[in-house]
This record gives sequence, structure tokens and C-alpha cells, in this order.
Amino acid sequence: MKKKVSKVLAVVLAALILFVTGCNSQPSSSGTTSGGADAGAASGADTASAAKKKVGVSMPTKSLQRWNQDGENMKSSLEAAGYEVDLQYGGENEIPLQVSQIENMISSGCEVLVIAAIDGESLTEVLANAKANNIPVIAYDRLIMNTDAVTYYATFDNWKVGTMQGEYLKRVLDLDNAAGPFNIEFFTGDPGDNNINFFFDGAMSVLQPYLDSGKLVCPSGQTEKLTVATEGWSSERSQSRMENLISSNGYSPSGTKLDAVMCSNDSTAQGVTTALTNAGYTKDNFPYITGQDCDIVSVKNMIAGTQSMSVFKDTRTLANKVVEMVDAILKGSEPPVNDNETYDNGTGIIPSYLCDPVEGSAANYRELLIDTGYYKEEDVIG
Ligand code: BGC
Repeated sequence: MKKKVSKVLAVVLAALILFVTGCNSQPSSSGTTSGGADAGAASGADTASAAKKKVGVSMPTKSLQRWNQDGENMKSSLEAAGYEVDLQYGGENEIPLQVSQIENMISSGCEVLVIAAIDGESLTEVLANAKANNIPVIAYDRLIMNTDAVTYYATFDNWKVGTMQGEYLKRVLDLDNAAGPFNIEFFTGDPGDNNINFFFDGAMSVLQPYLDSGKLVCPSGQTEKLTVATEGWSSERSQSRMENLISSNGYSPSGTKLDAVMCSNDSTAQGVTTALTNAGYTKDNFPYITGQDCDIVSVKNMIAGTQSMSVFKDTRTLANKVVEMVDAILKGSEPPVNDNETYDNGTGIIPSYLCDPVEGSAANYRELLIDTGYYKEEDVIG
């Protein structure tokens, strides 16, 4: 019995030693983040004191690939910079869950909050609490509206994303030279996501003149942002709307020609692709379809010829920028900002950092996504 007790003691002691040495060997600064993310910017972190600081990271959903990537990239980059991270996902876009997760982050001592909101309008109350506790808030990717608690905003140039989609269609349909007219339908994302104002309006800023001149025709007549919005950015919803459009307009490879579908992102594009594939379209007669994110499914579709392009937003770049912001805030220095005029959340302009989006397609996916370590070849082949 005595022997047993001392054996247990020895195990406990060994565990303690391991724990203590583990704590002392905090991650050094440099990036062990996925895909070679450069945590170097934050690598000056004074790990000894920063190790005690906790950062809350609230992502909107587990159900779309990009947010899992964003969350993981940020967690590893922040941890590599010496911070403790409370990373939470709002289930399947569940607003009350996101609110209560943020509430917990505040009460459990997070010193900065990084939030990608499910709905830009639903966090007013909980963020008033963050402000009352002097906790800075970084809006991540999506601007949080109508609250003066948002300190900074980090995102991609969302207007540019939209214009890239419009410019792509203009280019492949050769709208300035071809006779046309070309038939087109439109899909954008969740009406509560402020980003659609940039994605959709950006794309329309390029395409509207051709609708006005009749070179582009939208047979359903559905060209208003809120009419073509897709709740929750859901692929199922975009699929069923596309199915309705197919039956009400008679689109088919041998019927009414559909030349293009402007989709604001990959999840909506995937629903449209499924509906068109089910209606008999093949890679030889598929309409041009735009997207955004370079999701694995969409990269596969691009390789298969059932989606034409996507906009690549390297989540490693955004995560690293946010780590720099967090690090600067917690050290009392100036966070990186490169835009002080575009994003007004209803309470004034929010100082922002806009990362650069890049066009992705079957032609360049290898250099863009595989060579940079974003995906492995086997992720997107087969
Ligand atoms: C993001 C897109 C994403 C969409 C759906 C938007 O706010 O900017 O990258 O595809 O949400 O998750």
C-alpha cells in the first residue's frame, strides 16, 4: 500500500515537473503556424508577460470551411506570439450562442476580443459590456454595425472582391465586343452580413452598365441585392433558388441559354453548381460561375469545369494581421491600419486594415494554393 502511494506521488511529481518545464518553454515567437504563416510580426512579443494575457476569438460557424481555417490560423499565430486563446465557434450560425460565448470571454478575463459576427447587428448589447470593461474589439472580416465598441476592423478589400467577380464576367463574356445579349442570374450572401454591400455592389458597379444597355439580360428580373440574398450563405438555399430559376425560366443545355451566374462566394456557387449539374449541364456547356474563398469543394469544381473562378483570400495573411493588431493593442503601440475612410459602422469610420484578394481559377490554383502550402494537392484532386 505504502509502495502504491509513493508510486502515485512519484507520478504526480513527474507530471508537475513536466507541467512546469512546459510552461517555461513557452512557444518562442516564430511561426509554427499552419502553412508557414508569418507570426514574425508579432514575434517581438514579450512571451513571459504576454503568456498571461488572454485573447477571445469568436468565429461565426463551424459549417463553412473558411471559418475553421481562420479560427485555427489565428489560434496558432496568437499562441506562437505567446498569448492564451479562447477560440469559440457559434455553432451553425447561432446568434444567441455567439452572444453568450462573447459574454463568457468578457467575464473570464479576455483582454482583447476578435469577432467575426454571424449578424452584423446583433452584438450591440454584449459589446456595450465589452466597452464598459475597456476591452478593445477587433471586427474580423465582417464589420460589426451600430456599436461604438468596435476599435479596429481587419478584412480583405471587399469592394475589390466584388469588382473582381464583375470584371471576370466582363472579360470572359467579352462584354465590350461580343454581340450578346447574354443571360445572367445573381446570387449574394446573408442579408445581415455587411460584406454583401461591398461584394454585390462592387460586382454590380462593373455589370450594371451592361444590364442597362441590354448586353446582359437577367431573365428572372431578380437583380436587387435583397432579392438575390442567401440567408446564412447556405448552399442548400442557393441550390433551391437556382432550381426555381431553372424551372421558371426554362434554363437547360438545350433550352433557354444561361451564360453566367454571378455568385458572391463559394458556398452559394456550390449550390448553384449542384442545381445546374442536376439539370444536365456538363463542363462543356456550364455557365460561367463566380465565387470567393477557394474552398476545397470549389477548387475541385473549378478543376472539373463546373465553377469558373473564385477569389482567393489567404486567411493566413488576415490572421497574421490580426495578431499584429492584438499585439500592438496589448503593448500600447499603434496597430497596423491602411484604410481610414471606407468602413463606417453607423457610429463613424472604423480604422481598418484591408488585405489584398487574388483571382483563383483552374489555371493558377497550383501556384496559388498548393505551392504556397495552403492545400495539399491530394486535398483538391479527386
Ligand atoms: C466572408 C466570405 C464568406 C462568407 C460566408 C463573408 O463574410 O467575407 O469570405 O464566403 O462570409 O461565410
